[in-house]
Amino acid sequence: MNTSLNKSNEKIFITGGTQLKGNVRISGAKNAALPLMALSLIINKGFTLSNMPDLADTRLMSNLLGDLGINVSWSFGKVIFNGSPKTNEASYDLVRQMRASILVLGPLLASKGSARVPLPGGCAIGTRPIDLHVLVMEALGANVYYDSGFIIASTGPEGLKGGLINFPKVSVGATESAIMTSVLAKGKTTIQNAAQEPEIVDLAKCLISAGANISGVGTSTIVINGVEKLYSVVREIVPDRIEAGSFAIASSMTKGNIEITHIRPEDLECFLKVLKFTGSEIKIDKNSIKVISFKRSEPYDIVTEAHPGFPTDLQAQYMALMSISDGNSSIKENIFENRFMHVPELLRMGANITINNQIASIIGVKELKGSKVMASDLRASMSLILGALAASGSSEIDGIYHLDRGYEKIEDKLSNLGAIIRRSK
Ligand code: EPU
Repeated sequence: MNTSLNKSNEKIFITGGTQLKGNVRISGAKNAALPLMALSLIINKGFTLSNMPDLADTRLMSNLLGDLGINVSWSFGKVIFNGSPKTNEASYDLVRQMRASILVLGPLLASKGSARVPLPGGCAIGTRPIDLHVLVMEALGANVYYDSGFIIASTGPEGLKGGLINFPKVSVGATESAIMTSVLAKGKTTIQNAAQEPEIVDLAKCLISAGANISGVGTSTIVINGVEKLYSVVREIVPDRIEAGSFAIASSMTKGNIEITHIRPEDLECFLKVLKFTGSEIKIDKNSIKVISFKRSEPYDIVTEAHPGFPTDLQAQYMALMSISDGNSSIKENIFENRFMHVPELLRMGANITINNQIASIIGVKELKGSKVMASDLRASMSLILGALAASGSSEIDGIYHLDRGYEKIEDKLSNLGAIIRRSK
């Protein structure tokens, strides 16, 4: 695996129309792994994460932490972190490649008393400001300003102090920043309007096992009483609910029969309800689900929302499903302002979709046709893979480096289920 984003010309070729069948084991969640990795800046000895997905994004975070002075060692899905940060400045070349790099700001500030982190910039799905991360630092007593493309934060001699963080908008990353930055601050921090995603609950649980004092996780109000020190822990990263949902849709779109294992079905409650409404049969077990589909899906409207609503990270994949459903549906994207980049590419495959502001109206077509398409972001690339799997004929998907940010061994997993898929170098 390349250690930085490899924007090569790799393409994926898929011959569609095969019914997918069998078992697929889901990897650890990228979006849980990234904030957990950032904790290595404040948990300094022998912090260990298992079930680590080997992805471009987790490798990039690993490089960023290494560059800050943390010793990171990978071995068969287990990553061990040692040492404390030796510099307060994060590398521009690394940060600009991944927005989630902003997650190092708070822990770096907590550890060093100051932090210089380049602005991560926007991305294909939206401008993605970082004002809420800055709000966190300021609420905890830091002085923050911008200079030459850097966010520069520093604390006074007394370090970070607990405070009230009242988010005007729900944000996953800013809630994670708030938790990570306040666990070592002096006194009590209250986070209001906190995000409730399973990855946030997991982050807090990891910190609690390391000695942090946190209550209210999984609700909109989180209370943290600062502690002096965090202790080393060994944690298993939670399963990737978005990868699981993507395979569930693959089964629905190919009239397949896929058992999706090593997951927590409770993290997918809203999504699975929706998939059931579209006519797929879903058998839920403790750590696995089976998705069976015999017929063309029924249309069903969705609106993306913060957890426990329908996840924006499954919107593009769900749109691929709706594009071949037996009727009309609509999808409203509420989280990101520009997350319909997959639409023009699905149109190339023969989908019938129109966009009006944040709402996509979809008229289901009988079948998609294999085409040459271009992935524009991580979830858009999976949407095109799903379209290609269900389409008649062959597809060529370009821009595949986006896929490698968040889907581990995707060709192996799909070909084990019977897909005809290969990657060109
Ligand atoms: N926002 C602000 N200011 C901020 C931060 C966010 O206005 O300071 C806005 C965003 O622009 C967006 C909304 O708040 O409109 C929600 O963004 P959020 O902060 O919740 O997103 P994030 O933390 O940047 C994480 C995931 C995304 C996922 C979103 C929403 C990670 C590393 N990334 O991003 O994952 O879509 O939450 O659930 O956890 C993906 O995996 O494909 C992906 C994009």
